[in-house]
Amino acid sequence: MEEKDMQDYAAKYHGVDESILGDVVQVTRSSLQYDDMLSGPVVAGLLRFLIHATSARRVLEIGMFTGYGTLAMALSLPEDGRVITCESNMKYINLAKPLFQKSGVDHKIDIQFGEALNSIARLDPWFDLIFLDADKENYLNYYENCLPLLKKGGIFVADNAWLGGKVRDSGDRKGKVVHELNEAIQANENLVNVMLPVRDGIHLALKI
Ligand SMILES: C[S@@+](CC[C@H](N)C(=O)[O-])C[C@H]1O[C@@H](n2cnc3c(N)ncnc32)[C@H](O)[C@@H]1O
Repeated sequence: MEEKDMQDYAAKYHGVDESILGDVVQVTRSSLQYDDMLSGPVVAGLLRFLIHATSARRVLEIGMFTGYGTLAMALSLPEDGRVITCESNMKYINLAKPLFQKSGVDHKIDIQFGEALNSIARLDPWFDLIFLDADKENYLNYYENCLPLLKKGGIFVADNAWLGGKVRDSGDRKGKVVHELNEAIQANENLVNVMLPVRDGIHLALKI
């Protein structure tokens, strides 16, 4: 099998409810004419898996977009679970809100509008899982500001850990920051980490 065929084959096995998340994709495409920022079923499947594996209850998402990952995580959490999600673009929030209401898990979602670094500064510990998926220039800042909020045994998930290969280009501003984040995770003795070759790379770190 070609690499692409294997990726397509693997992408079928995730257990994500595509009837609900399919609405997010459809609304995103029809309203925005771009959908490249959606995390998609494989990443969402991994988040779903991690939430179930760790019995997570309180999750922080940095970068909500139209709510694909948010909804996948809210659907995976128990009734008293919460996803606190940060988003600075009101247009995306306005698209996501009706989708959340329709999903039946709206009560598990708390949207923090504004610059994520400001929102994070107002949040109380502890989070069971933190999903980082916002502006790459701030990846290291997010890591430094979020890690104190992650409980021991909690998982930090950084999406786009490869940034399309730009992490190996020291002349690329965003790639340089994402590379610095990867290095900081690797050097942190309080983290057990692994980078998965999933989509654009996912750096997983368990706080010990
Ligand atoms: C890749 S998308 C998130 C995708 C989403 N997690 C998903 O699962 O589909 C990144 C999002 O981060 C938001 N964002 C970028 N910079 C931000 C900032 N400084 N504060 C809050 N949100 C920000 C963007 O508006 C965008 O919606």
